[in-house]
Amino acid sequence: MQVAVVTGAGSAIGRAASLRLSETGFKVVAVDFNAATGEETLRLIREQGGEGLFVQADVSKEAGVERYVKAAMDTYGRIDAFFNNAGVLQKFTLLENLDISEFDRILNVTKAAAIEYVKKGVRVNAICPGGVDTALTQEVPAMMQESGYVPEEFPNMRIGRFADPTELAEMAV
Ligand SMILES: NC(=O)c1ccc[n+]([C@@H]2O[C@H](COP(=O)([O-])OP(=O)(O)OC[C@H]3O[C@@H](n4cnc5c(N)ncnc54)[C@H](O)[C@@H]3O)[C@@H](O)[C@H]2O)c1
Repeated sequence: MQVAVVTGAGSAIGRAASLRLSETGFKVVAVDFNAATGEETLRLIREQGGEGLFVQADVSKEAGVERYVKAAMDTYGRIDAFFNNAGVLQKFTLLENLDISEFDRILNVTKAAAIEYVKKGVRVNAICPGGVDTALTQEVPAMMQESGYVPEEFPNMRIGRFADPTELAEMAV
């Protein structure tokens, strides 16, 4: 038995990954702060014959993280994979207007975890997609208008279309 924790499991990429992980045999601990959409993901997992649980939690709060890790350990006694997928859209802004210390902090946290735990058999990888067709990207045109920042082209969308959440799910699995 293998157990995967998926955060942001109530929507697009997180839901697709939860369903795909379940199909491949994982028990899925679905986490989201939106209880209605998170419960719906659990229902879909069960509908396709899978098993899991839903935990409502805010991943940006330590107490929230403790709650879903405890729920996973109490129920299954192990966690084999985390898909730390929950995320929000930040205001569109040019790189030059970003606070560099915040930018560095975010990147360094990813790197440090990968280096510190690799010898303990824990792999830490990041998926950095271009545009994916989800609720999050539906907000982009309005946010661009509001910020006044509209790039001439989207260099990370050379594929010429938005990716589908299932393509990201496959990569996560
Ligand atoms: N859609 C894209 O084009 C795109 C591109 C690059 C990266 N991403 C990243 O992929 C991830 C998933 O994106 P998506 O497009 O599926 O977004 P989405 O907005 O459709 O789904 C995000 C989910 O995360 C949940 N969530 C947000 N903050 C949370 C919190 N603090 N605690 C618990 N749950 C929380 C939301 O309720 C929602 O269910 C995000 O981290 C996003 O930054 C998306």
